[in-house]
Amino acid sequence: MNTKTGNPTCLWKRDFALLIVTGLMVMLVYSMNTERMSTIRSLVFKLKDKPVPYRATVSEESITPIKNTKHLLVSAFMDQRIKGFDIRIIGIFKRDSIQPLHCSFCCGSVFNQTTPAIILPHSDNFGFPYTATDVLCQLPKNCDASHVTLLTKPSANASEHTFIPVRNKNEKIRFNFTVCISNLFGDYNNVLQFAQTLEMYKLLGVDRVVIYNTSCGPELKRLLQSYIQEGFLEVVPWPIDKFLKPSNGWRFQEHGGELQYFGQLVTLNECVYRSMERSRYVLLNDIDEIIMPYKHDNLVSLMNTLGPQHPNVGEFHIENHIFPKKHFEPSGRFHLSRWEKIPGVNILEHIYREDPDRSVYHPHKMIVRPKLIEQTSVHEVLRRFGERYKVPPDVCRIIHVRVALRGHLKLEELNEDKRLWDFQEKLIPNVDKALKRAGLIPAEEQNKL
Ligand SMILES: *[C@@H]1O[C@H](CO)[C@@H](O)[C@H](O)[C@H]1NC(C)=O
Ligand SMILES: *[C@@H]1O[C@H](CO)[C@@H](O)[C@H](O)[C@H]1NC(C)=O
Ligand SMILES: *[C@@H]1O[C@H](CO)[C@@H](O)[C@H](O)[C@H]1NC(C)=O
Ligand SMILES: *[C@@H]1O[C@H](CO)[C@@H](O)[C@H](O)[C@H]1NC(C)=O
Repeated sequence: MNTKTGNPTCLWKRDFALLIVTGLMVMLVYSMNTERMSTIRSLVFKLKDKPVPYRATVSEESITPIKNTKHLLVSAFMDQRIKGFDIRIIGIFKRDSIQPLHCSFCCGSVFNQTTPAIILPHSDNFGFPYTATDVLCQLPKNCDASHVTLLTKPSANASEHTFIPVRNKNEKIRFNFTVCISNLFGDYNNVLQFAQTLEMYKLLGVDRVVIYNTSCGPELKRLLQSYIQEGFLEVVPWPIDKFLKPSNGWRFQEHGGELQYFGQLVTLNECVYRSMERSRYVLLNDIDEIIMPYKHDNLVSLMNTLGPQHPNVGEFHIENHIFPKKHFEPSGRFHLSRWEKIPGVNILEHIYREDPDRSVYHPHKMIVRPKLIEQTSVHEVLRRFGERYKVPPDVCRIIHVRVALRGHLKLEELNEDKRLWDFQEKLIPNVDKALKRAGLIPAEEQNKL
């Protein structure tokens, strides 16, 4: 979240300090030239003495505490879809400590007018004390806010609070498909599956992948960096462990901690809003899942068919299909020696698919039209403006290579599904190139490519 403001009057304290330091350095250089010394000194004094009553601190971070509360600010977005409101803030609120709050704005300078904040904690909190929360603000008249913050008292001195930028003000559609992956944490280092999945997304027409990084393994870090450099991947720093005790699981009773899965629901919602004005569709799935069209060559062609057929649908549900990683394809044709030392699963080797047990709850993931979404959870949207449509599994389903879900099923009871192989001709060289770019294929192997 490194949006810098171009607004000259809502100065950053850091910029001002930099100005003074630079000024002092210039002064030092010129001090050898005694003739000029006096003019430089007076310039520095002028800068220092300039009254700056309306300056405020602006946070560049992904997570910013709200002063005098237990809550955290994440991002603010322009959102005028609900009458009477202009800005939606995504935050992390402590459920038992929610108090009335007031929106304060930076419009040119710090504005002394506040409006009451409407606080909407998401209903899916899985029992954790902290939950994803939306805050809606109405702008005062004649205020084109560049930054916003929340105050506990309308009379508080806003200059003493930290503001966050208001995003999505000048975005244009430039992506067809964005994949939102929630959080990387622990020492996750499933490099081969990650590279194969990202290259598969590219072949399917995905333009951008957004991922939130708390921590990751060493090889994966190199791979991420090379995808960032290429412009395909957007990694948002997510140091949630510096603020809360995040949970390794999804259920409070079972896993403890203060916030579900390192804030999975917060990051998914942040990503939907981050993508709202710039991406036609958003895919909400995990990094080991591929939303795969079975009757179309790619997602563009799939949604060019489904989109016009379902103009009011905001949420396309895609059924999850598990490919247990314990069953290997027998010929070994994709067991490539140059991939042997790469940590992680080779998805091309797993072609046996479980039938979902539709008599019990079976999770879906989603393709959404972000402009029709208000609040999302992991397997379904919580609040939306449009309708929901369940995409038939023969049209599109998720390829999810992982540990078996229905472990008691025998190999003969699984379905052979070689859909991924349809892409192998392009997929394999592209994965090789990605691993090579990240320096993950040994030098002697690189020469063979
Ligand atoms: C707010 O700002 C306006 C215009 O700058 C000023 O007239 C007014 O006195 C201020 N109000 C407070 C409470 O500071
Ligand atoms: C508000 O806070 C700023 C920054 O601490 C300070 O410079 C200013 O004097 C304060 N204004 C009032 C009215 O207290
Ligand atoms: C989006 O899809 C359309 C076809 O529906 C295509 O013409 C266009 O180039 C795509 N845009 C991007 C950024 O991939
Ligand atoms: C992910 O976060 C960890 C911990 O802050 C950091 O060391 C690592 O460099 C980050 N990786 C990327 C690709 O940003």
